[in-house]
Amino acid sequence: MIATDPSEKLSLYRRIREGDLVIVYERHDSMKAVKVAEGSVLQNRFGVFKHSDWIGKPFGSKVFSNKNGFVYLLAPTPELWTLVLSHRTQILYIADISFVIMYLEIVPGCIVLESGTGSGSLTTSLARAVAPTGHVYTFDFHEQRAVSARVDFEKTGLSRLVTVGVRDIQGEGFPDEFIGRVDSVFLDLPQPWLAIPSAGKMLKPDGALCSFSPCIEQVQRSCETLKTKFTDIRTFEVLLRTYEVKEVRETSCQGDEGGSFKSPPRKKRQHSTEKGNVVEASGPGKIMAKPCGEARGHTGYLTFARLKCLPLKDNQVCSLRSA
Ligand SMILES: C[S@@+](CC[C@H](N)C(=O)[O-])C[C@H]1O[C@@H](n2cnc3c(N)ncnc32)[C@H](O)[C@@H]1O
Repeated sequence: MIATDPSEKLSLYRRIREGDLVIVYERHDSMKAVKVAEGSVLQNRFGVFKHSDWIGKPFGSKVFSNKNGFVYLLAPTPELWTLVLSHRTQILYIADISFVIMYLEIVPGCIVLESGTGSGSLTTSLARAVAPTGHVYTFDFHEQRAVSARVDFEKTGLSRLVTVGVRDIQGEGFPDEFIGRVDSVFLDLPQPWLAIPSAGKMLKPDGALCSFSPCIEQVQRSCETLKTKFTDIRTFEVLLRTYEVKEVRETSCQGDEGGSFKSPPRKKRQHSTEKGNVVEASGPGKIMAKPCGEARGHTGYLTFARLKCLPLKDNQVCSLRSA
């Protein structure tokens, strides 16, 4: 389902159609992407679900199986896509992605360069951020990964906003056609310092760059290279603490998720604490929030920098690109 208007595909408010990609949500850690096809069924531990029952329902609907089990049908937003996509590489997750988009000031109409494409996790969010008039040009030197990424962008309806190129960005740099035309550059490469000089040439005056690296040695080397032509160089590590929120009743119960769970042994009522431990609220059923044991720790370092600009006469600006 390739929408003619890319912004339409990103809308959460339309009804499910034949050929749509939906995220079948059982619970927050059990979701999968399914292409809707009249005549097909989805079979899982809750029974058999007919796709024909889904067509015409709004995204977000709760749908039932032949055994009265249920799942939710969610729109394939970049946030959910990041959680269900097939991992062909390490990927960026929501906390890092959000920070990148905010800090690079990526808004509708921006032109963004990215390398490597990898599994397209970040690219999907970049595409939504630049829609409907901007564009993301993403490059990977691995041909099959580029092909798979294009297939995914077709599936998620983003292909009009993204162009995937096959190119060794560390060896050859970005193509000359982008010189001076780009609002931001994002690098997720093993040796980003090799691509930084080219990235600097591509950026508009005052354009911003971000480089993601898992190791601090990569960061140090990148910063060494950045300081000749970039300013405002800053490195961040985004650490996320996730809480599990559950409604707990006295007996074994069916929660508002596809699965059922047993209530834990009754605990004395506790209130919200500064340390953020278990919080129980009164009322019908109890809402419990506790930190997840499996919280992700270090993912990588995000280094941001802005292209230096030289003030010229009569209020013009000039980047060091041409200096
Ligand atoms: C960790 S993955 C990127 C993941 C991506 N940020 C995501 O969120 O899905 C790194 C990618 O860089 C690509 N790569 C490595 N060296 C490269 C180079 N010299 N030129 C272009 N791509 C390269 C790899 O093939 C790999 O797909």
